[in-house]
Amino acid sequence: MAALSELYREMASCQSCGLAQHRTQVVPGEGTVDTDILFVGEAPGYNEDRLGRPFVGAAGVFLDGLLASIGMGRSDVYIANIIKCRPPGNRDPGPGEIAACKPWLDRQMEMIRPKVIVTLGRVSLSRFRPNESISKVHGKPIRMGEFVLFPMYHPAAALHQGGLRNTLESDMLLLPKILKELRSIDAVPRGDDSHQQLTLF
Ligand code: URA
Repeated sequence: MAALSELYREMASCQSCGLAQHRTQVVPGEGTVDTDILFVGEAPGYNEDRLGRPFVGAAGVFLDGLLASIGMGRSDVYIANIIKCRPPGNRDPGPGEIAACKPWLDRQMEMIRPKVIVTLGRVSLSRFRPNESISKVHGKPIRMGEFVLFPMYHPAAALHQGGLRNTLESDMLLLPKILKELRSIDAVPRGDDSHQQLTLF
């Protein structure tokens, strides 16, 4: 899509924070703008910085498996990060870096207009709900005006804490149900109150 490639061109020359000095390249995100689902991770790591693509390491392999579990692949969704350049040594991004990078994700959200934004991990959740704890809200859809926020643990967390693997897998299985419900809300003509049975929100 022309608008996306123009956005990527602008991102490639971004110097809004110090991470620009350390990157091999910007990692804008990938997938289709013609989707209802936007996944938002934290920041590129070593492999992503080398290849310019999000989630290409072990966490990405797990994410691909989670998508497959609901009959989807990367071309059905859009995958982005809060931060578009790798923080040195994979440290957490700082508040200044998160603020500097915010306009890029804002513009991706405007282009995609997703029905559901799936945050992957604590840092991504805090971009939308700063005071929420991921252990309390993961797997629970939160209506946020134009879209529904669906917080999940970060796939990398399951690689370190095996117990989270099942949690991520069962949270992911809720995603098609949420989408189904949102699509049925959209299909209800104004004035029709038959949507009273809707349950998730
Ligand atoms: N972790 C993230 O949050 N994003 C990536 O792109 C890769 C690993």
